[in-house]
Amino acid sequence: VPDPATETGMLASGVEPLRDRKLDHLELARRPDVLHRNDTGLDGVHLRHRALPGRSLESVETAVAVLGARLSAPLALSSMTGGVEDARTINCRLADAAARFGIAFGLGSGRRLLEDPTLLPTYYDPDRAERPPLVFANLGASQVRGADGPARAEQLVAMLRADALFVHLNPLQEAIQPEGEVNFDGVLEGIAAIVERLAPLPVGVKEVGFGLAPEDIELLCGVGVAAIDVAGSGGTNWALLEGRRHPAARDAAQAFADWGLPTVVALRRARPAAAGRATLIGSGGLRNGVDAAKCLALGAQAAAFARPALLASQEDRLDEWLAAVVRQLRIATWLTGARSVRDLDESAVDALALPQPWSEDGG
Ligand SMILES: Cc1cc2nc3c(=O)[nH]c(=O)nc-3n(C[C@H](O)[C@H](O)[C@H](O)COP(=O)(O)O)c2cc1C
Repeated sequence: VPDPATETGMLASGVEPLRDRKLDHLELARRPDVLHRNDTGLDGVHLRHRALPGRSLESVETAVAVLGARLSAPLALSSMTGGVEDARTINCRLADAAARFGIAFGLGSGRRLLEDPTLLPTYYDPDRAERPPLVFANLGASQVRGADGPARAEQLVAMLRADALFVHLNPLQEAIQPEGEVNFDGVLEGIAAIVERLAPLPVGVKEVGFGLAPEDIELLCGVGVAAIDVAGSGGTNWALLEGRRHPAARDAAQAFADWGLPTVVALRRARPAAAGRATLIGSGGLRNGVDAAKCLALGAQAAAFARPALLASQEDRLDEWLAAVVRQLRIATWLTGARSVRDLDESAVDALALPQPWSEDGG
């Protein structure tokens, strides 16, 4: 396995070199003990059940426009991988499925691709015949800082011919990684510069499973970010996952087993901050199409899945899994009496019990 010094080499502190990080992530993400100890809050959201939905199931409209693209359903496969050989098959399957189902497809961090353009096939073939309607490139916080950020972003988007760029903010993951990059000075300014350079191409920002606070969403919308993916807690926990990679990180990681804003709370808080300014995406611990419908009812314009899509891809059952997700979304929408997924809103929420620590202030 290649061991690029920038990602996995001997650390100045003398900590032993780590195995290839991206490869570790693909293996470790399968483990059940890398999930948050708390849940997303989605089990506390109950959509209204109408026994007289008033129309045929098949007439329910699932198509939406997101970031200038027409999607057959308001769904995305979240940014995950690229840069290691094992990512090639996974990304190829994810791209195929996203194209077939007409949904958005996120690539993993493009850092390695920028360092070594020969890794392109482990990400995505921009000349592929079947193109997903919306392809997101992805860069981390440390890659957007500094004077070179806009040029890096421009180069990455061009290499992948991506339709949008998502920047991931993952301070907790970086803090737990022995080789993590924990200087977040200038990240907001870096994002602002990239927004300006890539315009009119949309730039989004996502967390990786701890949620985005409304104060941060305000700042991000203030610099022109076009999409916010809350990536709340309740699903994959990147502190626990990094803690699994290295004994030195394990003890620190355990204390963050339930850190962050559960997806439902993150969405409720994000909604007023993003309203009319940025496309809101609900993700973090979503399991199925009913969870996606709940996110839409809570104000998201699309819902995204990472770990469940990875597992389905690794087991080569993405089509079956996605068909079920779309079906569940259609049925749930129909049962609320809505004509279209676009009509799902708070009126479709019949009961809402927020996770206990947030219930008192209304989430
Ligand atoms: C194997 C794996 C690799 C990931 N790599 C990235 C990445 O490169 N960039 C990024 O923004 N998020 C990355 N993520 C985070 C996901 O996009 C997502 O925000 C997070 O896993 C929460 O969603 P989930 O609970 O559905 O897994 C990765 C997730 C997984 C499972």
